[in-house]
Amino acid sequence: MKSLRIIQTKIPIGIEKPIRFLHITDTHITRDDPSGGRRREAVFNVDYENCAEDYFLQAIAYAKKENIPVLHTGDMIDFLSKGNFDFMDRWFADLDYMYAAGNHDFCHWVGRAKEDYAYKWEKIKEIAPHVKSNLYFDSRVIDGVNFVTLDDSYYLISDAQTEMLRAEAAKGFPIVLAMHTPLYTKAFADAVMESNPCAYVTGAPEELLARYPEDRRKQQTPDEATLRAMQYIKDEPLIRAIVTGHVHRNLEDTVAGKPQIATRGSYEGDVRECILC
Ligand SMILES: [Fe+2]
Ligand SMILES: [Fe+2]
Repeated sequence: MKSLRIIQTKIPIGIEKPIRFLHITDTHITRDDPSGGRRREAVFNVDYENCAEDYFLQAIAYAKKENIPVLHTGDMIDFLSKGNFDFMDRWFADLDYMYAAGNHDFCHWVGRAKEDYAYKWEKIKEIAPHVKSNLYFDSRVIDGVNFVTLDDSYYLISDAQTEMLRAEAAKGFPIVLAMHTPLYTKAFADAVMESNPCAYVTGAPEELLARYPEDRRKQQTPDEATLRAMQYIKDEPLIRAIVTGHVHRNLEDTVAGKPQIATRGSYEGDVRECILC
């Protein structure tokens, strides 16, 4: 059994008393593999059998020992199954956590359905009973910092979510915005496209989208509401940092001067202890 790697990252958001949280993302639990074999299990248990589960248990044990909240940015499970829900129910029960939905949290079986708006709103009924956070949009103020989680897992942010974000900003607290999919930055896109035909980011610009295969371009092209949301996130001074997953890499950059981080999937043994300061 290997030990979890806990990366320590200071995130400057202009507060006097530092606040810590544990960023976990992309856990990809694979119980009851619908293929009937070990096809998806094998993808996410890279170090040893059941490492995705084991690394997650090591991570939450650390958060509990340190008495810090967990901020999970999605893909807790790889697909919807009773075994995966049982795992979530058991380990989320007494965990202090906030949750931003990932694309796999709505996924019946990866690659087998058109993952569009209607699909998500059908599948959300299966996953939502197993997560404390509202999967569309949620917020929680901890020690004067407002942690906002919102769903951008299909590369889209709605006007309704932006309005809710505005209402959160109206509370006056500095905001840490947590979303599954990172916002486009050149550094994020370059890093992901080293080994992928697309960047898996929200708000990719046209010239980048032009390099994607057609199916990925259709999937990841932002609509007008998403572009408005991105502009608001860039312009709102109270939004101080962006915490993301989905790209299965440890990346740090800035969006309009605000730190944006992504953390490698916890199934690969990495989590990030963030120190807001
Ligand atoms: Fe993932
Ligand atoms: Fe994802």
